[in-house]
Parts: sequence; C-alpha cells; structure tokens
Amino acid sequence: MVNYIPAPTGPMRNTGDIHLYGEDGFAGMRAAGQLAATALDKVAEMIRPGVTTLEIDRFVRAFGDENNALPATLNYRGYSKSCCTSINHVVCHGIPNEKPLKEGDIINVDITYVLDGWHGDSSRMYPVGKIKRAAERLIDVTYQSLMIGIDMAKPGNTTGDIGAAIQEYAEKERCGVVRDFCGHGLGRLFHDAPNILHYGRRGEGVELKPGMIFTIEPMINLGKPQVKVLSDGWTAVTRDRSLSAQFEHSIGITEEGCEIFTTSPAGLHKPPYSLTQE
Ligand code: MF3
Ligand code: CO
Ligand code: CO
Repeated sequence: MVNYIPAPTGPMRNTGDIHLYGEDGFAGMRAAGQLAATALDKVAEMIRPGVTTLEIDRFVRAFGDENNALPATLNYRGYSKSCCTSINHVVCHGIPNEKPLKEGDIINVDITYVLDGWHGDSSRMYPVGKIKRAAERLIDVTYQSLMIGIDMAKPGNTTGDIGAAIQEYAEKERCGVVRDFCGHGLGRLFHDAPNILHYGRRGEGVELKPGMIFTIEPMINLGKPQVKVLSDGWTAVTRDRSLSAQFEHSIGITEEGCEIFTTSPAGLHKPPYSLTQE
C-alpha cells in the first residue's frame, strides 16, 4: 500500500491519468499475479511456530530467482527485503527479521513480483498454530472486506463505491478501517493512480472503466483505526495495540466486472489452510 495522499477526488474528476491496459497488459498481470499467488501458497506450508520471517523472506527471494522475477520491494524507497511480514498489531510493512513466530500469532505476508515488467501484488493472513477466536473473527472480517470491495469493482461504479462498501461492512462488524494506507493502481509501475481508499462514500472518487488495473488491500483493526509508524520508518502498528489484519488482491476491470489476477492456484485464499494442518 502506498501512503495515503489526499486525492483531489470528486464525482467529476477525469480519469486521464489512469492507464487503461489491453489484453497484453492483462496477460502480463495474470502471469505476475499467479507467481505471487503461488509463492503465497508455498508460504502457507512454511508457517509454524519457530520459523523466522527472515526465512520466509529468503524463500520469496529464491522463488523469484527461480522464476525470473524480482521482488518489487527490494531496494524500493530504501526498503531492503523481498516481502513484508506484519505480525499481530503490525498493520503493514513489517520488516522480516530473526524473531521466530510463536503459537497464537497472526501474520500477513505481502509479496509483489515483477515479471516481464508487470507487477503482481498480493497478501494473505496466516494463523500460527491455534489462534484466539477474536483473531479468527478479525481474519474472516478482513477477508470478507476485500471480497465485498472486489464485488463493487465493475464498470460504472466508482472507487468510492469500493471504499464505502468495505467501510460499511467492517464498521458494522465493530472493526476499525485503517485510513493511512490505501490500494493503488499498478501494472508497469508498482504504485500508480488511482488510489483505492478502503473507506468513503458511494458515488465519489473516479469512475471505473474496463482496462483499469489496481489493488484492493484493506487493513482492518479489532480496535481503533489509528496507526503510527515505528522509528525504522516502515513498520506501521495500531496506536491502541489492537490486532490488525489485511488481505490484498491485484485486479483488472473487465467489461462484465473484474478479473482477479492473484487467485490462489491451490485454493488457499484464506485460513484455515487445511493442507497445512496436521
Ligand atoms: N506490497 C505493498 C503494497 O501492497 C507495498 C510494500 S512497499 C515496501 O503496496 F517497501 F514496504 F515493501
Ligand atoms: Co499493494
Ligand atoms: Co502488497
């Protein structure tokens, strides 16, 4: 997600700065998206108490190497790792390190590969062993938030319709919607127009058109929406230290609705990941 830049949005804003991609763009995004999704499938098999996020990061780098893809986060604005690993009250941009995962943690792994110049960006939540009911509920609400947003992604709707649907649902579930980070256009670029806010009002923002490609990546908190960024300049945490979760897909607007580029080849869209449970 990119830092939220208050966008000069309004119902009449023209979309001239938003790239519309053709079939070649969709094919490139499909390939890049499927690679990120395959890596996330493999990460599901790695998650257990004792594993470090640095081990996950090394896997992401190596899997990219094997597939002629580069992690987009590597050396991105001074970031030095191949993925983001955000545990418990970390909202996003957690930096992989030597600390082992422990039973009861919840972790988001966010991977972006650049393949043939196309950016496939996706993230999922993983439970570490047995987790609390409240954490399970947060993960379910966050996954539903993403899918409710995706349901609104079709020609004629606006970016505000996506944000409003997510916010209405998450707040009805008594969860907090993070405002400081948002989804983003992508394709040839990692972070491009338009911003996709995960809150807002129906009808506002820019009108969706076939050929637009962007992410939806809601960050939902069990507590209040406020976040702060730690002194490392990246790690964003909830101010009230409540648990936070996130899921992300890269999608393209089609004539009928949208195509999700980052669907899981193994069907591991959200926990419980029955394949990894022994
Ligand atoms: N993948 C993140 C996103 O969803 C961006 C991470 S940028 C980093 O947009 F530098 F923090 F890695
Ligand atoms: Co993103
Ligand atoms: Co991402």
